[in-house]
Amino acid sequence: MEIKITKTTAPKTKPTLEQEKSLGFGKVFSDHMFVMEYTEKDGWHDARIQPYQPLSIDPASPVLHYGQEIFEGLKAYRRVDGSIGMFRPEENAMRMNRSAERMCMPQIPVEMQVEAMKALVDLERDWVPHSEGTSLYLRPTMIADGSTLGVHAAPRYIYFIICAPSGAYYANGLAPVRIYIEDAYVRAVEGGTGEAKCGGNYAASMKGAFVAEEKGYDQVLWLDGRHNRYIEEVGAMNVMFVLDGKLVTPKLHGSILPGITRKSILELARDMGMEVEERQVDVQELFDAYKAGKFSEAFGTGTAAVVSPIGEFCYKNEVIKFGDGHTIGTISQKMYDTLTGIQWGKLPDPHGWTCTL
Ligand code: PLP
Ligand code: COI
Repeated sequence: MEIKITKTTAPKTKPTLEQEKSLGFGKVFSDHMFVMEYTEKDGWHDARIQPYQPLSIDPASPVLHYGQEIFEGLKAYRRVDGSIGMFRPEENAMRMNRSAERMCMPQIPVEMQVEAMKALVDLERDWVPHSEGTSLYLRPTMIADGSTLGVHAAPRYIYFIICAPSGAYYANGLAPVRIYIEDAYVRAVEGGTGEAKCGGNYAASMKGAFVAEEKGYDQVLWLDGRHNRYIEEVGAMNVMFVLDGKLVTPKLHGSILPGITRKSILELARDMGMEVEERQVDVQELFDAYKAGKFSEAFGTGTAAVVSPIGEFCYKNEVIKFGDGHTIGTISQKMYDTLTGIQWGKLPDPHGWTCTL
């Protein structure tokens, strides 16, 4: 693919080492963005890297009215040898295409997506922050463009990638979170769009998250939309439990996003000789196992935090608390250390998951 590069004439000031501490997530954006457009006649065309700027779209565009939009999220980070690393970007590209299929949007060849990400990261390499745990978060996105209010797939699509230098998720070590098990709102249902990374899923999850926060919790544990009892995900992360020494996670059945961190941690657990189960998990099973002393750890998995230990669950006034609620389980810590060790180039990468530029 030929990518036309137009460099900015007004580069922004990059965060200093001191400012990297307060970067947060997705608040600062780099100098450039990747963009290309699609029409049925011309396919994907006009691939370019241009200065970061607003998009111009028709007010009647389907993305604005019917939410025909999908996205991805992945990181580029400074490895210990000074190179810039990325983690399984082709997995994100493949998931983008599965999301596109679900939302009646065009496919983008995986190689084309990975080439676009790498070209942009290469140009923005000075925007990859330096402090331990920080990263340049990439947000590849596809939106439906055009001038039509008919409820059907759009005539045009725009694919773009923006980059946000982001702070260390855990500036002071892994912090366990308090989780509210939601029994009124659902995030997704089987047959719906839960397994696609589309904007509407996140809009649908905001109310539940808001209510949980009002009650003093950090995140929501989502239950299935049909029976309201089987565990799905935690916030915008997949969820794993250590039950009777086994690593247990809800199996993918249509309403759960197939996380790349989830997939990687399951492989690492198998490498470590742990027994792994992907199956339906009834919320009651968690409370029964807790009472029987067989529920020792729980954590979320996702690109942003990698591993997010859970300290406490609350469900209809019943509570599960691991220790004092602030202690990180040994398996959670081991998974975090191993996966980030591979990503940052501190540990060998036996599966060939990382690439460098
Ligand atoms: N579940 C949801 C709803 C998400 O948005 C994400 C984040 O990307 C994940 C799970 C974790 O996926 P991954 O590990 O690929 O980042
Ligand atoms: C993650 O990367 O783990 C996420 O949950 C992404 C989120 C900001 C949509």
